[in-house]
Amino acid sequence: MKIAVIGAMEEEIKLMREQLDITNERQLAKITFYEGSYADHEVILCKSGVGKVNAAITTQLLIDHYNVEAIIFTGVAGALSPNLNIGDIVISTSSMYHDIDASALGFAKGTIPMFDHPSDFRADEKLIAIAADAASELNELTVSKGRILSGDQFIADGALVKQYEQQFAGACIEMEGAAVAHAAYLNDVPFVIIRSISDKANGEANVNFVEFTKLASEHSSYIVQKMLKKL
Ligand code: ADE
Repeated sequence: MKIAVIGAMEEEIKLMREQLDITNERQLAKITFYEGSYADHEVILCKSGVGKVNAAITTQLLIDHYNVEAIIFTGVAGALSPNLNIGDIVISTSSMYHDIDASALGFAKGTIPMFDHPSDFRADEKLIAIAADAASELNELTVSKGRILSGDQFIADGALVKQYEQQFAGACIEMEGAAVAHAAYLNDVPFVIIRSISDKANGEANVNFVEFTKLASEHSSYIVQKMLKKL
């Protein structure tokens, strides 16, 4: 298969790049795409940059220039669910924006106004199952499935954590997943978002993020590597 693996930051793609047998590097829209092979798949690995626009542009480029058959996002997130701890894995069942708000026009918060599609983008069932299967082989990791929220804010506020968890039933929060999901959905390309918890999006999030991004990135990457072997 031809599979895209996206991370937003250098730490999030580092481990995968070290494992990848890279045959070519290409720049498109100032984004570096590492073309290579892993576990008998053609893998296109890239660092999107942080935030929804970077993630959407990267995803569309992967679809237009590489015609990828599946998209896997790997990276870190802040926990919303109190059951999640640093290093735990969340496999996305769906992704939505927490920061889209046209409520003044009568649209529910978190929904894209005048959009003839769902605003909660469902991840591919087969990719979810393969991720769960891969995770079950990594006994030391705690894994759950859930809705992942995305927005252009780094959240470091316990009150917002409670609000977003209740309002949108999100398991964790990050800054790219729903934009990848959105672009993948519009192009009918299957996707899943894999995240590992780097912080709890509370008052200590900035400190924890710096301390635990490497560990959490590695955990997410282990799942993706195992997934690629099973696909
Ligand atoms: N990614 C990792 N931690 C995050 C947080 N607290 N808010 C947004 N994105 C994140």
